[in-house]
Amino acid sequence: MSRFILTFMAAISISVASIQCVQAENLIKNADIAYGEYLAGECVTCHRSGAANDGIPNISGMDADSFVYILQSYRSKELENKVMQLVASRLDDEQIASLAVYFASLSSK
Ligand code: HEC
Repeated sequence: MSRFILTFMAAISISVASIQCVQAENLIKNADIAYGEYLAGECVTCHRSGAANDGIPNISGMDADSFVYILQSYRSKELENKVMQLVASRLDDEQIASLAVYFASLSSK
């Protein structure tokens, strides 16, 4: 493959990555922490704060950008986990972002 095509493809994948980044940032800017707290009621039956237990990770204090990215990846089924795929399939981007800012605001302990 020519050098030109390789460079071109690299440039496209970099711009796709940065578009996704900007989208996550805009979502987080418009997120509503109180709405996130309300939605989190469903999550904390499994995700208790403190140490991870029974294979369920602690998500309190998680960075909001990563949180959005992970939930969107469960929703698109890029990340494998039947339970989380189902949970994420019911959330829109605004709800994911609100959950992200809420959980990011919690202590990770
Ligand atoms: C029925 C239990 C259950 C419920 C309810 C649930 N989760 Fe999960 N969640 C899990 C399990 C189990 C995993 C680990 C999946 C894996 O190992 O791939 C997980 C993983 C995650 C992760 C990735 C954590 C990491 O460190 O990789 C995030 C973020 C997350 N859940 C957010 C949520 C949110 C937000 C909600 C509520 C809207 C929610 N979960 C509801 C069981 C649950």
